Amino acid sequence: MDRFRIRGGTPLRGSVQIGGAKNAALPILFSSLLTEGRLKLKNVPNLQDIVFTIKVLEHLGVAVDSSPSSHEVALQAKDLKSYEAPYDLVRKMRASVLVLGPLLARFGEARVSLPGGCAIGARPIDIHLSGMEAMGATIELHEGYVLAKAKRLEGCRYRLPFPSVGGTENLMMAATLARGETVFENCAQEPEIANLAEVLVSMGAEIEGAGTSTIRIQGKDQLSGGEGTIIGDRIEAGTFLLAALATQGQVKVNGIKPNQLEAVLKQMEVCGARVKREDNAIAIESTGKLKAISFKTEPFPGFPTDMQAQFMALLCLVPGESQISETIFENRFMHVPELARMGAAIRIAGNEAIITGPSVLKGAPVMATDLRASASLVIAALAAEGETNIHRIYHLDRGYEVMEVKLKQLGGDVERLRD
Ligand code: UD1
Repeated sequence: MDRFRIRGGTPLRGSVQIGGAKNAALPILFSSLLTEGRLKLKNVPNLQDIVFTIKVLEHLGVAVDSSPSSHEVALQAKDLKSYEAPYDLVRKMRASVLVLGPLLARFGEARVSLPGGCAIGARPIDIHLSGMEAMGATIELHEGYVLAKAKRLEGCRYRLPFPSVGGTENLMMAATLARGETVFENCAQEPEIANLAEVLVSMGAEIEGAGTSTIRIQGKDQLSGGEGTIIGDRIEAGTFLLAALATQGQVKVNGIKPNQLEAVLKQMEVCGARVKREDNAIAIESTGKLKAISFKTEPFPGFPTDMQAQFMALLCLVPGESQISETIFENRFMHVPELARMGAAIRIAGNEAIITGPSVLKGAPVMATDLRASASLVIAALAAEGETNIHRIYHLDRGYEVMEVKLKQLGGDVERLRD
């Protein structure tokens, strides 16, 4: 198993290219199931979750042509072998439930394992299922599996009880092949949803309003091949910006639209960062006088839950009492005991974390517990005195492409070692 050995204390300086967004690439790869035509994608990040998604698609019978070094993938779902995403696949990557909408809409049938509990909370899929039911599907739960059937999905009006990202994506994909018009209200508005819609439109789908709370879709009898480019990863970009602040450095991230990260940039400014927004890049530097802040995680355009752990690592270094409320997931403070091992003073009260700073963080052996928690430990280690070994970085490899190479490029002292 790989680990990172990080020797902290060097300010990060320079510029870094941000890769394609994992969370946009996953649903877009799954959208290939909607058509027998060929789907050609660019800027697909080379990550473990992408490798895994390709495995799931190949298991179903999709022909996949991927060239990880050029970040291009072509997919063709002509004759499928199976309409099922088994437990073993869904357990490893929850986003596998995104096969449900496309399979049901195109083939009239899908069998998907219920995801069950995962490291960051219960994460049910009731919204995905009730939306499909509203489109006329029958849903049966049997031995841990969802069996969804529909001769042809019917357009409808459905209000999501909560703006679930995956729910919006699954339902939007399903509705592209439904009969007539479907209107979804209270949709998730994350930039990844608009990216998925762009690709679906290139396949002949008719979608209005993706990226806003109301999405209107005119269903088609079939979709064609298509193409698309994955947007930049706002979470990767934000992680590098926070690492720059934590080490009192100066970093520019290229390949990211600032408005996709605005809620995070605002908090960085309140905290005392100087932020420069460019067309497709963001530059940051510390004013040297950072101060405590409070925020809560929310659906987009609010502060993303996927940046909470990384921002907490920075707040450990800041004088005063900061407060973070996590409103999206329960159990998303698993990085706290690990940060505490490095000297952080953090108290948890329900869904709130109270961080008292400044702490002088000290290198220690720590354990990555999930993807974003691992990124927060990297930030803490870069700012800490001495050497930190972060174990189980396979979590990090799910969502950050060659992170150690990029950090080294910025002057960080980071090595990937194999035990
Ligand atoms: C996606 C992202 C993930 C991010 C999250 C929130 C991908 C692959 N993953 O996850 O990185 O942290 O959005 O921005 O894009 N919920 C229900 N019922 C449902 C669906 C969700 O109760 O049917 C709840 C979940 O348990 C959770 C909250 O809604 O508490 C948010 O979930 P959701 O927006 O669906 O997140 P994901 O799509 O799983």
